[in-house]
Amino acid sequence: MQKNSSPVRCTDEASIAAAVTFLRQGKLVAFPTETVYGLGADAENGEAVASVFSAKGRPAHNPLIVHILETRMAERYAEWNDTAARLAENFWPGPLTLVLNRREDCPASALVSPNRATIALRVPAHPVARLLLKGLGRGIAAPSANRSGRVSPTRAEHVEEDFRHGTGGPALILDGGPAEAGIESTVIDCTNVQPAILREGFVSREQIQGIISLSSESASARAESKSPGNLASHYAPSLPLRLNAASPQPGEAFLAFGPVAVTNAPGRLNLSEAGDIKEAAANLYAMLRLLDRPGEYEGIGVMPIPAQGLGAALNDRLRRAAAPKEPQ
Ligand code: TXA
Ligand code: MG
Repeated sequence: MQKNSSPVRCTDEASIAAAVTFLRQGKLVAFPTETVYGLGADAENGEAVASVFSAKGRPAHNPLIVHILETRMAERYAEWNDTAARLAENFWPGPLTLVLNRREDCPASALVSPNRATIALRVPAHPVARLLLKGLGRGIAAPSANRSGRVSPTRAEHVEEDFRHGTGGPALILDGGPAEAGIESTVIDCTNVQPAILREGFVSREQIQGIISLSSESASARAESKSPGNLASHYAPSLPLRLNAASPQPGEAFLAFGPVAVTNAPGRLNLSEAGDIKEAAANLYAMLRLLDRPGEYEGIGVMPIPAQGLGAALNDRLRRAAAPKEPQ
């Protein structure tokens, strides 16, 4: 096995205790969540939070989500309100992030959301994430554990790949196996009179609308003013993507969806032969990483995916993965 600077460990008690110690020391720890792997820092330690930005190469204006153990903790960090309470009751612990106004006496470092009066909070469901939060007793600021702009990690080895070269990566990677959801949390602006989606994610618009009424504003419209980290090009492999592809072109790798005859030939993968959108979400990032081989292919063709429900988030990620790369 190739040696690298971020040891990978299983998620036994001793490894989790070691991870908590690293967090207390201001170091970074990569850990599994139910959506994707996170690159965690003690949210109340400014230097640790700053090192998340440098490790990822993340633009300073793109704020971080603070993960917390339970709703009660949200009230220490943010101005809580009825909309947030209803969403939390229905979707926490789980893949939903609420953007709220920061409390004046919020103990989190201001660096989690530089130059903003808001803070994004999420209570994760993954048992390993919960053990870390319990051990630390404070919030954990954690973006997805990939280098900025790249495909999010759904397995420990993806984190290893991204931080193998260079310095400043996680002191430890906790390997909790493949992430179950495979796509990030839905981010909702809860600071306004009329809440709106800032980033499509694993909880669908339809599910949220079953609980509260959402602004009809598109995620991109509200995100432009509220979430400047929402870049057109993001979640991107290095090869160009061709969306709504019916079949592969010569020289292209191909990502199918649904019951099509995809042979076992190299460079041909199927997100879900059964046409199951949840299965496709769980596979998307890992399969994009597998097909992203610039030496072998010129691009990746991707078949159309239905846009309803969870499909909206998948299509959002594919559009960003296909967008021309911009300087960050
Ligand atoms: O599922 C997830 O959300 C994963 C896991 C690790 O929890 N985390 C994740 O974090 O995807 P990240 O940093 O890759 O994406 C966070 C998103 C970004 O689009 C960011 O702009 C937005 O949340 N965000 C964070 N704080 C915000 C704030 N105060 N106001 C508006 N948007 C915010
Ligand atoms: Mg990310």
